[in-house]
Amino acid sequence: MLDLLYKRRSIRKFKNLRVEKEKINEIIEGTLLSPSGRNKKPWHFVVVTNKEIIKKLAESKNTGAQLVEEAPLVIVVFGDKNATTWIEDTSIALTYMHLLATNLDLGSCWVQLRDRVTKDEKSTNEYVKKLLDIKEDNLEVEAMIAIGYADEEKPKRTKDDLLFDKVKYID
Ligand SMILES: Cc1cc2nc3c(=O)[nH]c(=O)nc-3n(C[C@H](O)[C@H](O)[C@H](O)COP(=O)(O)O)c2cc1C
Repeated sequence: MLDLLYKRRSIRKFKNLRVEKEKINEIIEGTLLSPSGRNKKPWHFVVVTNKEIIKKLAESKNTGAQLVEEAPLVIVVFGDKNATTWIEDTSIALTYMHLLATNLDLGSCWVQLRDRVTKDEKSTNEYVKKLLDIKEDNLEVEAMIAIGYADEEKPKRTKDDLLFDKVKYID
């Protein structure tokens, strides 16, 4: 487990290679195993491999989303606002996806979307829901994750990167 955690980095450049269906299925299967408050599972995932839609997703917020443009796979994560812990639950699911992708030798990057706006100041939530044809009022976008074969090298973290001084022990 620690090896995987040291290896996981945010990858923002992707090769022009599709992600195999079996790998997509494994990411989804693993993600659906993530825990949620009162086991409510208040998530909704949209798995996008359509290049035109992915290009539009890259425009879903004013900064920090452009990297998804060349990704072969983007999974957009919505949460049910009626569930008290929807932000935590969707974030755990995104963390699982990030780690599942790393474990399959895929690069990935989390792109936060909740409460953001597009370049022309439109709500990111409304933009993404319209683009993906999500009609349910209770669903709100949390983030998306770009996934693909890495076209950049990022070194593994080392123990020297870790902020052990952030931890207090009480025995
Ligand atoms: C909640 C969250 C939101 C993030 N949002 C973005 C984003 O919108 N755009 C982006 O390029 N990276 C985003 N990232 C990636 C972080 O910048 C990255 O995890 C951080 O710099 C540490 O680098 P590492 O993932 O390689 O360890 C996000 C990460 C998290 C956990």
